[in-house]
Amino acid sequence: MRKIRKAVIPAAGFGTRFLPATKVLPKELLPIVDRPVIQLVIEEAVQSGIEEVILVSNPGKRQIVEHFESSPSLEAFLDSKGKQDLLEELRQLTSLVRVKSVEQKVPLGLGHAVLCAKEAVGEEPFAVLLPDDITSGSEPCLGQLLSSYEEIPNDAATVALYHVPLDQIHRYGVIEGSVVSENLYQVERIVEKPSPEKAPSLFAVMGRYILPSQIFSILEEAQPGVGGEIQLTDGLAKLAQQRKLYGYCFEGTWYDVGSKLGFLQANVALGLRRSDVGPELRSFLNSFLLRS
Ligand code: UTP
Repeated sequence: MRKIRKAVIPAAGFGTRFLPATKVLPKELLPIVDRPVIQLVIEEAVQSGIEEVILVSNPGKRQIVEHFESSPSLEAFLDSKGKQDLLEELRQLTSLVRVKSVEQKVPLGLGHAVLCAKEAVGEEPFAVLLPDDITSGSEPCLGQLLSSYEEIPNDAATVALYHVPLDQIHRYGVIEGSVVSENLYQVERIVEKPSPEKAPSLFAVMGRYILPSQIFSILEEAQPGVGGEIQLTDGLAKLAQQRKLYGYCFEGTWYDVGSKLGFLQANVALGLRRSDVGPELRSFLNSFLLRS
């Protein structure tokens, strides 16, 4: 088995869609009930066997790194109040995984953010998880992607795909491809935000990737694309031209928490599943919907 040990998490953007909430608070720390989205994403990486997380951050987003460091005064406070459950939870958080942080001083695009992790990744294939995407399912999304990775050539990449209804397809990057085996496709090209008539399939690319280290030289040569940014999609398009891009259709649910609607949906859906707030949230929603 080819072991993927490292995961890059780009988190250096300005999060403009959530302003003013994200003026001071990094969007990656916005909570789904009481867990920051980045924590959920890192937990998915750990459950999938990742041993080291490389967080791409910027100098103004130090709080993200601090979230995974110990906080002696808070821990002493919880201990003195006998709040052992919370104390244990915080301690687990700091021992979850090795988190290394690299800087992207200016947000020049997602492709550039991944390129900033070049030294930290080295010569091995690696995973990328976008903290804008959270997933739930019987098996973690990245774990499923890693299993599918066993079927593809060494120097190829694989991206997670999600089956999207036709009326929402215009929001996503959509693949054109051919079937390799159950849930696995060879990607011929990615069409950005197609109209329903022009969509080549109903498979949208979501923010989970396994990339060969060759992606770095492709990104180094990449010219700024949409919005003047170095786009990861352009690097993936190059891999697709070389027939080195595969897509795996993820089994589970995807929430695009980088959008306001997706963020609210994730809070409701994951809140309903919680034993502490779920039952009351359900009866609130039922009576609220009856009244409105
Ligand atoms: P987004 O484009 O969704 O994030 O990038 P953003 O720019 O922060 O948010 P909006 O669109 O203005 O609301 C997806 C992920 O890639 C990171 C972001 O932090 C986010 O987690 N990213 C994006 C970088 O790390 N660097 C960049 O230059 C761009």
